Amino acid sequence: MADAIAIYPGSFDPITLGHLDIIERGSQLFTKVIVAVLCNPSKKPLFSIEERIAQIRTCTQQLDRVEVDNFSGLSVDYAKQKKAKILLRGLRVLSDFEKELQMAHTNKTLRQDIETVFLTTSTEYSFLSSSVVKEIAQFGGTIDHLVPPNVARELYRCYNKADATTRRPPK
Ligand code: PNS
Repeated sequence: MADAIAIYPGSFDPITLGHLDIIERGSQLFTKVIVAVLCNPSKKPLFSIEERIAQIRTCTQQLDRVEVDNFSGLSVDYAKQKKAKILLRGLRVLSDFEKELQMAHTNKTLRQDIETVFLTTSTEYSFLSSSVVKEIAQFGGTIDHLVPPNVARELYRCYNKADATTRRPPK
């Protein structure tokens, strides 16, 4: 395990099983992973910062080396403040790569001493995003194979749908 603190920054609106997979695997690699939820006043998230932090805390409570926090401003500045050397990001498909590479290069120009480390998302989550999950939940589809149970409940409640966690995805 690298003796380093990693920041895993993101919107997490809401956290998915794909994010959780990166957090779990990151926590095997680094001494600490800080899941950092971005406060972005220009975005209109479905869940408030407090709700997203509570959701992430609930589904990561069994992971000793994981902390959850929020930040505003630049990821690299937050990393520096936390004495972290690593920005952790997940890569799903090729289309992620361009945006992620641009972000990693930009961050490198801002702070030389902070490295971006990518983990490839496990194949079963390669299609998964927070937006896809919200769209399915909005139309009452099953999402319990896509997000942690606490998040599924909150999404259904949010969209005023009956709790569909007992339904199975169609074969
Ligand atoms: O989950 P997301 O929305 O893909 O996460 C994007 C995030 C939060 C990692 C990125 O937007 C970010 O780091 N924002 C903070 C501002 C910043 O550091 N910008 C410079 C890097 S392009």
